[in-house]
Amino acid sequence: RLLIIDFGSQVTQLIARRLRELDTYCEIHPYQNVTDAFLRDFAPRAVILSGGPASVIDEGSPRPPESVFSLGVPVLGICYGQQVMMQMLGGKVERGHGTAEFGRAYVEPATRHDDLLLGWFLDGREQVWMSHGDHVSAIAPGFEVYGTSPHAPFAITGDATRHFYAVQFHPEVHHTPNGRTLYENFLRIAGFTGDWTMGAYREEAIARIREEVGDAHVICGLSGGVDSSVTAVLLHEAIGDQLTCVFVDHGLLRQNEADEVVAMFRDHYNIKLIHADESDLFLGELEGVSDPEQKRKTIGRLFIDVFQKYAGQIERAEFLAQGTLYPDVIESVSFSGGPSVTIKSHHNVGGLPEKMGLKLVEPLRELFKDEVRALGHELGLPASFIGRHPFPGPGLAIRCPGEITREKLDILRKADAVFIDQIRRHGLYDEIWQAFVAILPVRTVGVMGDGRTYDFACALRAVTSVDGMTADYYPFSHDFLGETATRIINEVQGINRVTYDITSKPPGTIEWE
Ligand code: XMP
Repeated sequence: RLLIIDFGSQVTQLIARRLRELDTYCEIHPYQNVTDAFLRDFAPRAVILSGGPASVIDEGSPRPPESVFSLGVPVLGICYGQQVMMQMLGGKVERGHGTAEFGRAYVEPATRHDDLLLGWFLDGREQVWMSHGDHVSAIAPGFEVYGTSPHAPFAITGDATRHFYAVQFHPEVHHTPNGRTLYENFLRIAGFTGDWTMGAYREEAIARIREEVGDAHVICGLSGGVDSSVTAVLLHEAIGDQLTCVFVDHGLLRQNEADEVVAMFRDHYNIKLIHADESDLFLGELEGVSDPEQKRKTIGRLFIDVFQKYAGQIERAEFLAQGTLYPDVIESVSFSGGPSVTIKSHHNVGGLPEKMGLKLVEPLRELFKDEVRALGHELGLPASFIGRHPFPGPGLAIRCPGEITREKLDILRKADAVFIDQIRRHGLYDEIWQAFVAILPVRTVGVMGDGRTYDFACALRAVTSVDGMTADYYPFSHDFLGETATRIINEVQGINRVTYDITSKPPGTIEWE
């Protein structure tokens, strides 16, 4: 495996993404954690030093341990990583003074042409993305220049004997179009063969779960979303009936959702599944509640109570399974107020493991989202589960602004089902990050047939997004919108007006509450 030492670059995670795409297993660790002992235990086959916002010229700036360079393995330094490497190995780094460089640049081959890393220059020169203030003014002994750019005479340098390489730019970003090839070459030099596939991961993960869990029992909260579904199926494959899933049905799910989850996991996969149908409890407590935060809090509190009640009935349970993903566990290097390590804790059922005295088992914690999907595919989960749009924990409650009633929820479910059906029929589902209907807390006047109606208005919402942090509305054709509005008004009793929400995020949010 490969070790990425993180010095706080915004794009360190992208390095890991690129390597994973090349079927190579790697881990990111903040430089503060990487000690001599850590390196010995980790025994990396290669090391990458990431970029970072600090300046190597400053007193006390972050550094890897000297022993990185005596492991006898290839090391690649990127941007700050390049500078740190040069300085530690006897080169020189100077402050910007007009040589700072941000954005697109072109690197051309220099002296050596036979090195594997240099095999990179596919078209004679390569577009790269620079982002640096300081620059290397003298390279370390043993290094040669492989590539130069007008402002970076040492854009690519290397010591082919020790297999140390240093680049001034960021090969992991989109704006270095052939950056992947550079990583590919580096991995080849380090002897990686690209054998880290989902099939292999599945076998490894199963063996690890068996070892970790032994003959104890495991509880898994199942929502029907991708992460919890893949977690459940993987655990079931590893430990069979030692797994019990708890599916909390708060009565705020979409049409047929509960039936589909039960059919898939209990009937098809034969997983022990408790369908905790507590809709009366949730909807009862939500009666008269119209404040969005109050709704969330009420649902969150009841969810934990209910989960705990059902989980408490499972005998010999020692573990709680969670679908935590790699981006949630990467410790990030933060430079606000001095170097510090911020660890994001993502307990989906906040605080519950401690409260119930359960240990955690998180079999997806090494994976990125698209890898979870690939694993789901490998485990035979149908595309309808793997490719699902995200669905919020509080469910339809936050798509029903104002007070929640059973009548409104029924109408909302039907309208939502028509909208999603339209999107699927037109082959647009996978292009859209998330799509749903919100029922508005207003009734408006309409005419249908010879009579007047006084029914609810609804809003269609469909957005594109990469991570849910920013989003844009999906540009449906007018024909699509017209057809969908007509279908909803004809097929869903209780709605006589359909609007399309064209707000981006920011300033809006994806959900209506
Ligand atoms: P917003 O509405 O904040 O949503 O733009 C961003 C993403 O997060 C989901 N979301 C939630 N998920 N509990 C959840 O589990 C919540 O309370 C919640 N609120 C929003 C939303 O569906 C979107 O994918």
